[in-house]
Amino acid sequence: MSDKKTDSRWRFRPEEEKHDIYSLHRQALREPPEPQEGLEPPPWWLWVISVLLIFWAGFYLGRYGGVFGPYVHVLEEGRRTERETALVPKEPETTVSGAEVYARVCAACHQPNGQGVPGVFPPLAGSEWVLKDPETPILIVLHGLQGPIEVKGTVYNNVMPEWGSKLSNEEIAAVLTYVRNSWGNQTAEITPDMVEKVRKETQERKTHWTQEELLKLKK
Ligand code: HEC
Repeated sequence: MSDKKTDSRWRFRPEEEKHDIYSLHRQALREPPEPQEGLEPPPWWLWVISVLLIFWAGFYLGRYGGVFGPYVHVLEEGRRTERETALVPKEPETTVSGAEVYARVCAACHQPNGQGVPGVFPPLAGSEWVLKDPETPILIVLHGLQGPIEVKGTVYNNVMPEWGSKLSNEEIAAVLTYVRNSWGNQTAEITPDMVEKVRKETQERKTHWTQEELLKLKK
């Protein structure tokens, strides 16, 4: 064992005294802790950014995602080329209810049971005008009818307004198919294409038909 006083390691060294132990510790404490491996909680700002990103992404998908449809890459309507327009399927044709159109448009005059009003509105039930060829009732609904007309042996002389400008081809086809298959009537369906064809052929027509004209058209 050596004596402390004689051991050079323990001799007083004045230069060491200049360092203040407190300031040294303060410096040491300012240092961030040594990084260590393990599950550190992520910093708060990473959470904030993540949440904002998720919200933005959800909004973006909702706004521009096209419900993940297969046509999201086709330009919006109006800016499409012909090829793209062909790619996009047509809106599914709304199925028009003939009964609904009848109740809304025709029943006021021809009555819900298709019997008409004696002396005023001719019946559609059992009417030869409804049942013979498909074109005649299409012509009547498209352009209206006026003057004397014989229906089931009775002559009516009144005016039926035109519906061509107010009803679509689908509606006219549906209502006539309904009329031709209700109250004991039973005959072939009328399609929107048939209405479209008659509409095109008679688009110059601006006045109501008369019985004579219809009979001449349909021998
Ligand atoms: C405002 C009343 C009125 C409405 C609404 C009306 N009609 Fe008529 N309709 C008449 C009149 C009146 C006549 C007979 C016209 C004449 O005297 O020349 C007629 C005649 C007809 C005829 C030929 C005659 C017959 O009895 O078969 C048909 C077919 C017909 N209407 C179908 C329809 C259908 C289908 C609708 C609905 C889309 C309709 N009408 C809506 C008043 C109406």
